[in-house]
Amino acid sequence: MTRRRDAILREIGLAPLWRLRGAAEEVEEPAVQPPAATLEAPPPRAPELPRTQAAPAGAPRRPVGTPPTPQPVLVAPPEPGPAPGADVSGLGWDELEARIRGCEACGLCRRRKQAVPGVGDREADWLFVGEGPGAEEDERGEPFVGQAGRLLDAMLATIGLQRGHDVYIANAVKCRPPNNRTPEADELAACFPYLRRQIELIKPRLIVALGRPAAQALLNQEVKISAARGRTFRYGDIPVVVTYHPAYLLRNQPDKAKAWEDLCFARKTMRALRDEA
Ligand code: URA
Repeated sequence: MTRRRDAILREIGLAPLWRLRGAAEEVEEPAVQPPAATLEAPPPRAPELPRTQAAPAGAPRRPVGTPPTPQPVLVAPPEPGPAPGADVSGLGWDELEARIRGCEACGLCRRRKQAVPGVGDREADWLFVGEGPGAEEDERGEPFVGQAGRLLDAMLATIGLQRGHDVYIANAVKCRPPNNRTPEADELAACFPYLRRQIELIKPRLIVALGRPAAQALLNQEVKISAARGRTFRYGDIPVVVTYHPAYLLRNQPDKAKAWEDLCFARKTMRALRDEA
């Protein structure tokens, strides 16, 4: 445990947990208890190919195998629904971001200052997906730069990650919902092709869904974060883990310890994926 890590844990409100649990290396990676409740089975779907692009034969970064306990739940991504102007299949990064910035596929475009495509390493192993831009993100055009973003950065640091270094950060909707309300289902659906294309381009090894809207957009099913924690889902062939949204954690400080456990679980899952590759 370095002094820096100690400071970070204090920053996110975990110093008491640290002291309670004692031994450094064990506390860094606590065992995540699978919640008693389980998710309902995903809605029946016609058999279909995953919409993420299959990795080419011999590709070095194919996520393989079964991450740590419990068994993964195989879940296909959602039907995006009608989304005028959002056929972005095959686009490269520049065109994709231009299309996001000019998007008028749902009503959120009317009150945005600017769309917020995403930020980070475009070849990252880690993809974090939030809900949607807030006021500061709308102002600056970058995700998670407000108070929740500062907490997210501190949380990333606790597992040795840093924005922009092997990490890409995106949102389920790219435009700020008025008054930071939760995005509506039709807004999530209209925006989903952009996230899908981002995932196809990045080919992350692991996706971390921050909060319920992001988890539901990715997993195409109702998600209760408390029940989904500690489990590994899939978006196509990419493992997905879920945790609380940083903005929720700012309002519910005791749950920060759970979010930290979730990040440790994500890190453990990533290690297993890399070992198996
Ligand atoms: N909350 C989010 O979900 N995303 C952001 O970019 C900022 C706050």
